[in-house]
Amino acid sequence: MRITICKDIREMTKKVAGEVAETIRGNPNIVLGLPTGSTPEELYKELVLLHKDQGLDFSRVITFNLDEYYGLPASHPQSYHTYMDQHLFGHININRKNVYIPDGMTKDIGDHCRLYEANIKRHGGIDLMLLGIGRDGHIAFNEPGSSLTSRTRIKTLAPETIEDNARFFKSKDEVPRYALTMGIGTIMEAKKIILMANGKNKAEALGLTVEGPITHMVAASILQMHNRVIIYTDEEAAAQLKHIPYYKHEEKSWLTTVEY
Ligand code: GLP
Repeated sequence: MRITICKDIREMTKKVAGEVAETIRGNPNIVLGLPTGSTPEELYKELVLLHKDQGLDFSRVITFNLDEYYGLPASHPQSYHTYMDQHLFGHININRKNVYIPDGMTKDIGDHCRLYEANIKRHGGIDLMLLGIGRDGHIAFNEPGSSLTSRTRIKTLAPETIEDNARFFKSKDEVPRYALTMGIGTIMEAKKIILMANGKNKAEALGLTVEGPITHMVAASILQMHNRVIIYTDEEAAAQLKHIPYYKHEEKSWLTTVEY
């Protein structure tokens, strides 16, 4: 695991966008895993700028979103379909045929989730998975207690998540209670993973993720078992990390390291 501590969210998302852009340039057919939430909004702004100013080409990129609220139609203003259109897809030259987002209105959840997994496999797996982190340590919508080998499925949202995401809805009561989400096992199969954390309300979750024991009560802690994970954090979210001097020291020799 590599940890890079940035001054603020701007520096962090600029660095991540640079890394994503370099990866796309190196492999125009890349398969990306994409998150939602307020942290990635900033990242998507940077990627849109790279597309507009430097011609970053998304025409062959394939994307799989991590999750979608169950019970929200794609057209709902707070669906992750709408979010992706507003923040990224509506501003870049992505081929809509290459975009996969779980259907929150699916009638057959089991079949839909199996097909989602099959589509990821058909495209050769996810090359680069981008993740945010929830206050309770969730990745995608894998709430505390999620099986560490879980696959794409329906999950009940935790009260903390409903509270946190209520800011996007008119009231807490409007936040869906369920989501379709890639599983932790699905996420762990990605060839490389970047997790972004910012703000002081993520400090506890990040501390436990990086330096705590691996436990399904902090889903992100499973990333300790992956050999190509980079955590990008701002100083506030890094506040509970105890080994910052080592992470900073190690960052200087990153180029010579193959596995993290
Ligand atoms: C939602 C998403 C997660 C995201 C989390 C944190 O719950 N399903 O993928 O990581 O929000 O989002 P934010 O960046 O808004 O704190």
